[in-house]
Amino acid sequence: MILKEAVQHKAFGIISQAAGELGYPAYVVGGYVRDIFLKRDSKDIDIVAVGNGIALAKKVAGLLGPKTKVSVFKNYGTAMLHIGELEIEFVGARRESYNKDSRKPVVEDGTLEDDQLRRDFTINALAISLNKDTYGELVDPFNGLEHINQEIIKTPLEPGKTFSDDPLRMMRAVRFATQLDFTIEDETYEALNKNAHRLKIVSRERIIDELNKMIMAEQPSRGFKLLLNTGLLEQFFPEMVNLRGVDKRKEQSHKDNFYHTIEVLDNVAQQGGDLWVRWAALLHDIGKPATKRYSKETGYTFHGHEVVGSKMIPGIFKRLKMPLNDKMKYVQKLVFLHLRPIALIEDHVTDSAVRRLLFEAGDNIEDLMMLCKADITSKNRTKVIRYRNNFDMVLQKLKEVEEQDRLRNWQPPISGEEIMDTFGLKPSRQVGEIKNAIREAILDGEIKNNYEEAYEFMLKKANEMGLAPVKNKKKNNRSDAENA
Ligand code: CTP
Repeated sequence: MILKEAVQHKAFGIISQAAGELGYPAYVVGGYVRDIFLKRDSKDIDIVAVGNGIALAKKVAGLLGPKTKVSVFKNYGTAMLHIGELEIEFVGARRESYNKDSRKPVVEDGTLEDDQLRRDFTINALAISLNKDTYGELVDPFNGLEHINQEIIKTPLEPGKTFSDDPLRMMRAVRFATQLDFTIEDETYEALNKNAHRLKIVSRERIIDELNKMIMAEQPSRGFKLLLNTGLLEQFFPEMVNLRGVDKRKEQSHKDNFYHTIEVLDNVAQQGGDLWVRWAALLHDIGKPATKRYSKETGYTFHGHEVVGSKMIPGIFKRLKMPLNDKMKYVQKLVFLHLRPIALIEDHVTDSAVRRLLFEAGDNIEDLMMLCKADITSKNRTKVIRYRNNFDMVLQKLKEVEEQDRLRNWQPPISGEEIMDTFGLKPSRQVGEIKNAIREAILDGEIKNNYEEAYEFMLKKANEMGLAPVKNKKKNNRSDAENA
């Protein structure tokens, strides 16, 4: 099969010319070729030289002109350069084998087929020739194209061997199956079960990289089911495995929180949620196993699971080598608040409850609402539809209150400094007490969220505390300016 169009870009012509001048063959391989058949756009190109990959990259750079920069990774025998929007990586064809307990490869030169054979999956082992007499020809010794058409993930070698060469490939098998909606071929699937424990030697960063790609798929639940059933998930994420299972006493039982969680994740994905709101979905019920209680009267309860769950997050992020920054705090916040909007459906919605939620969620209110809407799952469709409709009413209410009171990212209308100035106080508990009282009065709707009403309220509150003003209103405050 000749794929002229796939190698039309001028970059391929230049690589072809450089390889010709060096006198050894070169091919495009891997994801770029796979993505042509999947009709996915790809800007990362891998080139295999049956010869020295670094020398080929340098030759290409020479043809492109003195401004072209080549990054060389000597330890890996690879080099990288950019041509326009394309990022092109060069490597020499290799035969590789690994020691049993480490990822350190023993590398020797090899043929193109050796190189294809040591790749992860047949669909990633396709190559296109860049050589003059066979330019554009597909080289597919392991039926990668057929497997793309059949939508299967299969290793080119005996799967146990491919996975022991690099156990991360087990995560990649699940990630590709999820992203592409492919099936993992039986023998390959068996090998996942058998070798899952070997994932332990892979760094958390590499695992999470694959996991995050899987989480960003259209329907990430597929991947989590595969990870659970193959035993891969328990290697790095036991807290999630613990969500699994249903207890029953007499007629009472509870949802299986694992399947519920991944359904919520799918719902968030469907609403176009980004990586971090998806992580919040994944962790929203993580505190349930630790808080599960049973009583005859109430059945199973998980009181406080949002508090326990949000406290578990730093530990989980740390172990998984995830960022311990504002992203983590965001996930914690969403987990902590995830029951609040639901409570607004169940109770009679008061403006005050809505105000308090707006105040606490701040800029994350939309994401919190997305998560909560996604959290409505049930086998009973009518119930889900009714709940979601009620939920839309809460959203409407939030919008109205926000327009009226502007509580998102709320700043106190009166600062602690002004309280101290007005009553001649030093920093003290009393200042905090007055400040909190003003905030509570605004959230309760007792006074409006503006300077004038807050000032009057402050005087009243201070008076109750036995404090008298030593100073009048600040000269340059808003209402003075208006009165001038
Ligand atoms: N590869 C492999 N084993 C790995 C990682 C990569 O055999 N553990 C090979 C595959 O042939 C793959 C190529 O290296 O196609 C490039 O890898 P990478 O850029 O990580 O992935 P892509 O397949 O390009 O997929 P994506 O762009 O979706 O990450």
